[in-house]
Amino acid sequence: MASSSLLVVVAAISQLLTLTLLVSRCSTKVPAIIVFGDSSVDAGNNNAISTALKSNFEPYGRDFFDRRPTGRFSNGRIPPDFISEAFGLRPFVPAYLDPAFNISDFASGVCFASAGTGYDNVTSNVLLLQNVIPMWKELEYYRDYQQKLRASLGDKKANSIISEALYIVSLGTNDFLENYYSSFPIPGSNSGCRRAQFPQPGQFEDFLVSLAEGFIRDLYELGAQKVSFTGMPPMGCLPLERTTNFMGQHDCVEEFNAVARDFNGKLGAMVDRMNQELPGLRMVFSNPYDKFYEIVSRPSDYGFDVASVACCGTGMYEMGYLCNKQNPFTCTDASKYVFWDSFHPTERTNGILADSLIKSVLLPNFA
Ligand SMILES: *[C@@H]1O[C@H](CO)[C@@H](O)[C@H](O)[C@H]1NC(C)=O
Ligand SMILES: *[C@@H]1O[C@H](CO)[C@@H](O)[C@H](O)[C@H]1NC(C)=O
Repeated sequence: MASSSLLVVVAAISQLLTLTLLVSRCSTKVPAIIVFGDSSVDAGNNNAISTALKSNFEPYGRDFFDRRPTGRFSNGRIPPDFISEAFGLRPFVPAYLDPAFNISDFASGVCFASAGTGYDNVTSNVLLLQNVIPMWKELEYYRDYQQKLRASLGDKKANSIISEALYIVSLGTNDFLENYYSSFPIPGSNSGCRRAQFPQPGQFEDFLVSLAEGFIRDLYELGAQKVSFTGMPPMGCLPLERTTNFMGQHDCVEEFNAVARDFNGKLGAMVDRMNQELPGLRMVFSNPYDKFYEIVSRPSDYGFDVASVACCGTGMYEMGYLCNKQNPFTCTDASKYVFWDSFHPTERTNGILADSLIKSVLLPNFA
């Protein structure tokens, strides 16, 4: 009895020591997490703009803190939230346009991402998604943020946050699935669509890489140095794409996965090139593809029951307004599902993906 309780105490103390070590190791170097991109990382900016692409209603967010639907496209947290926590910061990153937060809150983390956006200006205007925030506008908000940060904390403190923060950039799926492959017409032009302009997907990839590179240059000009540039997921395995893959018996659409892999190769090369060229830049390529594909291919290895359809609704088509609380088919335990809606992972999947990037790339490079 006495010796076993001693053991418990020893275990508790050693656990406490480990925790203290972890916290002191992780809490110093990155003062803030600053996020750009699409719904893979949007914490709720679309709530504040006029678009049909929102998720600030139940059952979205039902496993978030206070069961709050925040505008995150998941049942709970998304990858930047886990990353922020791993660096000893808040366990979530608030959206810049969320009126519940102010510049004091944003000093340790802020999200400018907008669901539905893409590298290509055309993507943010796609009919269904209409008028989400294009990437140039995310940068405008970021400039506005810098001004407020300087006004609030003074130049010295603000500049140190700006240069030491970890910047997360995550987007690309919409450029392919909503714009290129749906042959969406380019607004105000007679020349048709991107697919007519770039008949080979590889040509469109090159176009997007040039836009990604331009974005990184702008961000660097504004003072960013530590960047986690996120690769593409296996987008052919999203439930919506599987549902409509009638010829392929609802397997993953290999054509889309091949494009994602090819594009990832080019993005990785862009990251290397920028690191060579821009002094002081420390950009890493955070590629979720392999881990994500492994989870979808062998869900039971990760404790999931279902990977081919999503938790919300029938799991085949629903996202945004179609995934709502009137829908009677929504699953009860989202942690058994890889996907929450037909386009977005569950909190549990987000956690596994984030954790793998945190351990393999982010903490080793930036903590
Ligand atoms: C931000 O909000 C908190 C309370 O929510 C308040 O204490 C603080 O003064 C505010 N900061 C600014 C700069 O408005
Ligand atoms: C996207 O739109 C912005 C604002 O109109 C413009 O400054 C930028 O050059 C456009 N980008 C491309 C690649 O057309």
